[in-house]
Amino acid sequence: MSDQGYAFQENTKYFPDRMPERPKVKRPGSIKECAGGLFPIEMYAAVNRVEGLSPGLYHYSVPQHGLCVLKRGDRGDALAEAALGQRMVAEGSVTLIWTAVMARTFAKYGARGLRYIYEDAGHVGQNAYLAATSLGLGCCAIGAYYDEAVDRITGVDGREETVIYMAAIGKPE
Ligand SMILES: Cc1cc2nc3c(=O)[nH]c(=O)nc-3n(C[C@H](O)[C@H](O)[C@H](O)COP(=O)(O)O)c2cc1C
Repeated sequence: MSDQGYAFQENTKYFPDRMPERPKVKRPGSIKECAGGLFPIEMYAAVNRVEGLSPGLYHYSVPQHGLCVLKRGDRGDALAEAALGQRMVAEGSVTLIWTAVMARTFAKYGARGLRYIYEDAGHVGQNAYLAATSLGLGCCAIGAYYDEAVDRITGVDGREETVIYMAAIGKPE
């Protein structure tokens, strides 16, 4: 695996003219790349300590391009317990929770859609790292958690829509 990574770096180093032209990214955090343009991923935010936002669970609404409050109140401790005791999801400013509505991608790609959903999630997670870094914040992806517990906290059914990824964001120490 590390050899492959090295080979790729070598290629980009010595043959930059062979890299495909990339569109200019307007702002970090924008979601542009997505398999089939089907956008299976929804984003929730468990807010612990964010200036101007009360603690609570929010959902990012695409049509409104803003956060809608779903449940008020700090969910940090419950989320940390669901994430195998990782306190950063309680002590960070906010934990982003990404779910997938599987049918959006499966309808076009069938079983292969599962691969695309997780690839999409990787892009979304990377955008969160870029956006956090550009704001001088720390970001840590969270893959270790009990699915059912985080589904329950997020209020999704775990079948049609299920949590697939999280990231804790906060001020670096
Ligand atoms: C898919 C994914 C899941 C991860 N899950 C966790 C996690 O549950 N807990 C954690 O502390 N770090 C998690 N990480 C962060 C990695 O441990 C971290 O990126 C890696 O150790 C590099 O550390 P650095 O960012 O300090 O260089 C995850 C990273 C990825 C990409």
